[in-house]
Amino acid sequence: MAPYCVIAIINQKGGVGKTTTAINLSACLGYFGFKTLLIDADPQSNSTIGVGVQPEDYNYTFYNYLLGNYNLSDVVIKTKFTGLYLLPTNDDLYAADIDLSKIGDDNYNTLASKMGNQISEYDFIVFDSPPHLGPLTLNIMKASDTLLVPLKADFLALQGIAILMKTLDRIKINLNAKINLKGVVLTMFNQSTNLCKEVEQSVKEVLGDIVFDTKINQNVTLAEAPSFGKPVIYYNFKSSGSENYRLLTAEFLKRMKIAKRDS
Ligand SMILES: Nc1ncnc2c1ncn2[C@@H]1O[C@H](COP(=O)(O)OP(=O)(O)OP(=O)(O)O)[C@@H](O)[C@H]1O
Ligand SMILES: [Mg+2]
Repeated sequence: MAPYCVIAIINQKGGVGKTTTAINLSACLGYFGFKTLLIDADPQSNSTIGVGVQPEDYNYTFYNYLLGNYNLSDVVIKTKFTGLYLLPTNDDLYAADIDLSKIGDDNYNTLASKMGNQISEYDFIVFDSPPHLGPLTLNIMKASDTLLVPLKADFLALQGIAILMKTLDRIKINLNAKINLKGVVLTMFNQSTNLCKEVEQSVKEVLGDIVFDTKINQNVTLAEAPSFGKPVIYYNFKSSGSENYRLLTAEFLKRMKIAKRDS
């Protein structure tokens, strides 16, 4: 069986909630009964650390998988969280953009051609990605079929989304016709500010139904949880951040017409 979908969490802007969404969506999918592989494809290693894994403890990481002779099963580790597996990364991955460029014009296919039938045991694959659109990010987009975009609710949000939509059009034409934007999620939302409400209204006017109803509120628990190496549902289940990500995951599954399993 192939996974239900291979999800790329993408936004070329930094600090918009990509890693927080990758970690917590993956953990909630695992918690809901789906075997989920989180691939930390950002050399900053924030997703790796955020699920309690120390990058320096592993000699073989995403970098070795992408550019070496390793199978997925050689490099994936089982986390201590239900249903959640991790392909960790470390700072070796900073070399990937240059190494990929050296491969030549078809370097964008490196990851997709490696993953092939090696991912069939997972229900979901979730990529955390770097904050720029270099060869590594293009490899992620080629290997994925589903795009989720976290959008920080600030006044530059719409400018960022315009650039991303233009890039997505180019990707669909030139790189991967089967990738689809399946959702935009507003993050770090502060209900009490007019700015956030205005941003939400404008984003919905431009993007319509693609914007999730569930918003991720600004919540300090979400910022604290990674320092304890835990997804928020395992750090503080009752926090609003935990509830937001459980609701987002449920909304995503509904949108994808995938029935929730017993957890
Ligand atoms: N909803 C939230 N409430 C409060 N803090 C948050 C929230 N979401 C993310 N943060 C914090 O904001 C910072 C940026 O978030 P995150 O690391 O997820 O963004 P990113 O897009 O992955 O950044 P980068 O582009 O550098 O990889 C982090 O310190 C994170 O803990
Ligand atoms: Mg990140």
